[in-house]
Amino acid sequence: MDPQNRRIIAVASNKGGVGKTTVASNLAIYVRRFCPALPVLVMSLDDHSAIERMFALDADDGPDLAEVQGAPQHDDLVAGVRAGMLGDCVRQGRFGVHYIASSGATSELKTELESPLVLRELLEKLEWPGVVVIDTKSDLDRLTENALAACNLAILPVTDADALLEAERALRIMDPWHLPRQRASVLLSMVDLRVRLEPRDGQDVLAQLTAGVRDRGYHMFETFLSRSPAVEALRAVGTERPRSVLELGDGALPHEQMWHLAREVLGRLSLAVEMLPLTEPAEQARDTGPPLPGARVVTSEAVPGPTHGSSGQRRPETQDRFYDEIVPAFCDQDPPILQLQALRVSSTVLTTAPSRALAPGVRVRLALRDDEGASLLLWARTRTREEGEPLQLELEAPGSEAASQLERLLSRLPEAKPAARAGLH
Ligand SMILES: Nc1ncnc2c1ncn2[C@@H]1O[C@H](COP(=O)(O)OP(=O)(O)O)[C@@H](O)[C@H]1O
Ligand SMILES: [Mg+2]
Repeated sequence: MDPQNRRIIAVASNKGGVGKTTVASNLAIYVRRFCPALPVLVMSLDDHSAIERMFALDADDGPDLAEVQGAPQHDDLVAGVRAGMLGDCVRQGRFGVHYIASSGATSELKTELESPLVLRELLEKLEWPGVVVIDTKSDLDRLTENALAACNLAILPVTDADALLEAERALRIMDPWHLPRQRASVLLSMVDLRVRLEPRDGQDVLAQLTAGVRDRGYHMFETFLSRSPAVEALRAVGTERPRSVLELGDGALPHEQMWHLAREVLGRLSLAVEMLPLTEPAEQARDTGPPLPGARVVTSEAVPGPTHGSSGQRRPETQDRFYDEIVPAFCDQDPPILQLQALRVSSTVLTTAPSRALAPGVRVRLALRDDEGASLLLWARTRTREEGEPLQLELEAPGSEAASQLERLLSRLPEAKPAARAGLH
């Protein structure tokens, strides 16, 4: 039992359908999967059964929908809160995650809880030796207040302008308690990079939301979650158990994004625990033989970028092409998300307008748009440069799918004639 590792995360938004339950349940799974030493407990303050349907060890162990919507059980959340003790409600669940079952009577707690601090006290008493993830209802009621008062980190999923306004309302709940606003962080969720809201200014949803979040000065996760039919399908079938993003497997973008989110969340919580690497796509791992179960596999982090001197692995360089786009860039710096004005691109370098925001040698994730409007996510590292010069980002070798997407993109762009464009040398 290590109380040093006790951290509470609340996922909150007054807006429904923004991905709260998806984020809460998958974050619990990813933290547990990639930090096996860290015990994880998940609970929902909503009166639906999504958490127990995901985590109950077998279908008989977990209550079915009718049961959850019916009378409270002796060991569910409501029973625990009423007894003033959550210890007896904690159940061992799938994915090595523990959970507290919701109850159809959860909404009765709204009026029963006299203070926003009840859950905080109960969790202190529980002394859970790891991470607790609290999913909340799409309602800024007394229950959500309790989650926000208890948490070390509030994740506020935002999908659109309406959800952004709701994030402000969640933040205002925390203000009277003088909790620092850095305690809450916006997570861009279900972002559809193909949609351009204002064709005239050419910005996509991600660029617009990013600008909105930054204008308001909110903290935001570097990672965002794309809208994905594969993620939607995980919960699509009515009677089946919901499935985890983990099942989409290595190489799937939502899987990568969840891993990055888990890593960022642990960093924000200052948890000094070791996180297992995200495994490489199968075809890259094959070179070193089949990975052993639980063995350390080469990670995307460990793949040396060009500035790390990856000798003998020179990638063929293509000629520069015009690429006149705003490229969202994600990095660990402040601000974590930038919009770079791209000027030209080759298979190894993206050149953008000068930017003071990025120091040389910083590793960033770039979201390029391919010719069909799909997002192309690449890692890159900023090159040393003179002040005021165009910024050059060396692209790391992408995986096979992204490589062919990049190749296709390049083949359809016009060749850049440097002299024809002002500001380029
Ligand atoms: N990244 C995503 N891409 C596509 N669909 C998603 C994504 N995340 C969640 N969904 C789907 O959107 C719906 C709402 O998500 P949910 O997590 O229940 O939101 P909330 O808890 O905020 O109401 C669900 O059907 C879910 O499967
Ligand atoms: Mg929900």
